[in-house]
Amino acid sequence: MAGTCVVGLQWGDEAKGKIVDLLGDQFDLVVRYNGGANAGHTVVVNGKTFKLSLLPTGVIRSNVTSVIGNGVVVYPPRFLEEVDQLAKVGLDVSKSLVVSSHAHVIFPYHMEEERLAENNTEGKIGTTGRGIGPCYQDKVGRRFAVRLGELLRPDHFRERLAQIVPFKNRLMLAFANGHPAGYKTFEPNALADEYLGYAEQLRPYIADTPRMLHDAVAAGKRILFEAAQGSLLDVDHGTYPYVTSSSSLPSGIWGGSGVPAKHITRTIGVVKAYTSRVGQGPFPTELDDGPQGIGERIRRIGREYGTVTGRPRRTGWLDMLTLRYTAALAGADEITLMLLDVLSGIPELKLCVAYEIDGERRTHFPSDAFDLERCKPVYETMPGWTEDITAVRTLAALPHAARRYIDRVAELVGLPVSVVSVGPDREQTIRV
Ligand code: IMP
Repeated sequence: MAGTCVVGLQWGDEAKGKIVDLLGDQFDLVVRYNGGANAGHTVVVNGKTFKLSLLPTGVIRSNVTSVIGNGVVVYPPRFLEEVDQLAKVGLDVSKSLVVSSHAHVIFPYHMEEERLAENNTEGKIGTTGRGIGPCYQDKVGRRFAVRLGELLRPDHFRERLAQIVPFKNRLMLAFANGHPAGYKTFEPNALADEYLGYAEQLRPYIADTPRMLHDAVAAGKRILFEAAQGSLLDVDHGTYPYVTSSSSLPSGIWGGSGVPAKHITRTIGVVKAYTSRVGQGPFPTELDDGPQGIGERIRRIGREYGTVTGRPRRTGWLDMLTLRYTAALAGADEITLMLLDVLSGIPELKLCVAYEIDGERRTHFPSDAFDLERCKPVYETMPGWTEDITAVRTLAALPHAARRYIDRVAELVGLPVSVVSVGPDREQTIRV
């Protein structure tokens, strides 16, 4: 059995979906192990473009089983909506999609809790508003969490909500204290009715996924693990507290799916040719250079707007310190360099090769967000290229400066580049 992981090495949105798509039919199962509907990937089915945020990208392949692992947090209406969207274009996933009975359930009070926390207190994180953080908080807190399997036991589920919801309502009141926009409260029975309705539709999809995956491993099936978010958003190793609430690194696979790490034999680190970030938090190589600047140019050409929230993404130069750090944490065997075409026409490109902090030069990434905030980037400059490279299909046909850029990135990360992407389409790919 060969387990492969596709993981982003930056702050998310590295175009991981395209790599999963390129790996094509090499897998029998595709597994998501972390996050929830905060992820965003664009997929094309029967000529129609979709934005999926909860279902794995692999769901569009009918011969592949898609698994939403126990480490994912599930908002049932979103799950059903995405399944429905796919059905409308003729893609029936009822036989190919499963979700863990141990995945935790997101309720509207999680979103309200998040909204109030983000609006009303200091320390805004700039979250996606999908209830991800509050749901994971409940998961580790244990008392107020609900797992998907519990929705299949109506009496028990009603009792749970009768305990949880009044507590949540009191929490909202405390959070909203003095908040001009007020707050929402919830009614346990109405919420139970709503969710028991979803449960009937979800029932055929709910499964004991760890056991299923163990059987797949024993049968020598090929499994692809699809990380959501990026390594710098990992709750343990990212730029805490400006991170998501799950383990986006491959270390999350074991806990979030039940498949032990020893079965992962290939880890592909996906890297954008520049850097982007949504939400708050330090970003040393950010290009905050105004409406005519390179940062805005990259945002416009790279269509750097959040898939989930539509927020403009912050953009900046490629940072080799972050990449060395995340490649080491992920155990990446290779990297893929995405969106290289977006850099065409920029006269001079910069790679961050060190930081200066308090007058000292550092070549290691300080994972502490407060140290990182004080870091000034030290750049190496490289000539850019003017040619449109979106139709190029071989390394040899790339402008010399583009080849030098790729080689230098590989040298500084210390890993081979296996794929260079020069456009969103499957064909716009150079296999190295
Ligand atoms: P949360 O995951 O909604 O709690 O948001 C926490 C941080 O992670 C925020 O900065 C979000 O913008 C960021 N984030 C969450 N999911 C993604 C993603 O899929 N791509 C990029 N950033 C993300």
